[in-house]
Amino acid sequence: MTMDSANRSGLPEEPIGFFYAWWRADDLPVVSSPESLVIEVANDERSVARLTEVDQEIVRLRMHAGQSPWIAKIATEVVGYGWVAVHDAEIGELGLRLRLTEAERYLWDFVTLPRWRGQGIYPAMLQAILTRDTDGERFWIGHDLSNAASAHGIARAGFRKVGAVYRLTDADLVFVPSEPGSRAEAAARLLGIPLRSGSGGGTTGIPVS
Ligand SMILES: CC(C)(COP(=O)(O)OP(=O)(O)OC[C@H]1O[C@@H](n2cnc3c(N)ncnc32)[C@H](O)[C@@H]1OP(=O)(O)O)[C@@H](O)C(=O)NCCC(=O)NCCS
Repeated sequence: MTMDSANRSGLPEEPIGFFYAWWRADDLPVVSSPESLVIEVANDERSVARLTEVDQEIVRLRMHAGQSPWIAKIATEVVGYGWVAVHDAEIGELGLRLRLTEAERYLWDFVTLPRWRGQGIYPAMLQAILTRDTDGERFWIGHDLSNAASAHGIARAGFRKVGAVYRLTDADLVFVPSEPGSRAEAAARLLGIPLRSGSGGGTTGIPVS
């Protein structure tokens, strides 16, 4: 969307962030990453808490709720991590609670430790999840407007941009699709915010849950 069309539609010039999907039949591009990279689900609450700098009780609650902490290692060193949510998830910055269907996953809080960045570890982690979590059919992920490193890694892994989240002047959020279709509707429903076209400004009847 150009700045002009955004202004014409009554939307702010910039979105808050972008939302992406990878659905089971989508392509998985080849990504290059360090040969010795090992990606696995962690199960030790204490080491996950230490690594992610999240209180151990919160880690325990997340894991009991079915969330999986994934870690990437080279030799014995942890080089990255991230979470896969099932059932429900929160996007705290936006005040949104997502309710995921059985086959949906929300990927969040991914970090590649600074000295390992730029080697494809993040897209390799995302793809490991897409290929190994075979009960998942629809995988969702997002990033803040300014996070170009995340945007590139997400795209490199094979995710497709579905749309952008805007905050209107009355503080309501709307979802503006990159292209119309079932993914945009599914994303708006998952986020629980109205779908709105970028040019006309009208919202659809998708309810806020
Ligand atoms: C976003 C993040 C996970 C990407 O991890 P990564 O393993 O470096 O991912 P990639 O190897 O695909 O690199 C992605 C981009 O980051 C760039 N980059 C960022 N910091 C870098 C650094 N210190 N050294 C080298 N490259 C870096 C890469 O060059 C690459 O840019 P390009 O796509 O234009 O080539 C990582 O930068 C990070 O942990 N950031 C802080 C936390 C964060 O923002 N998480 C994402 C939340 S949605």
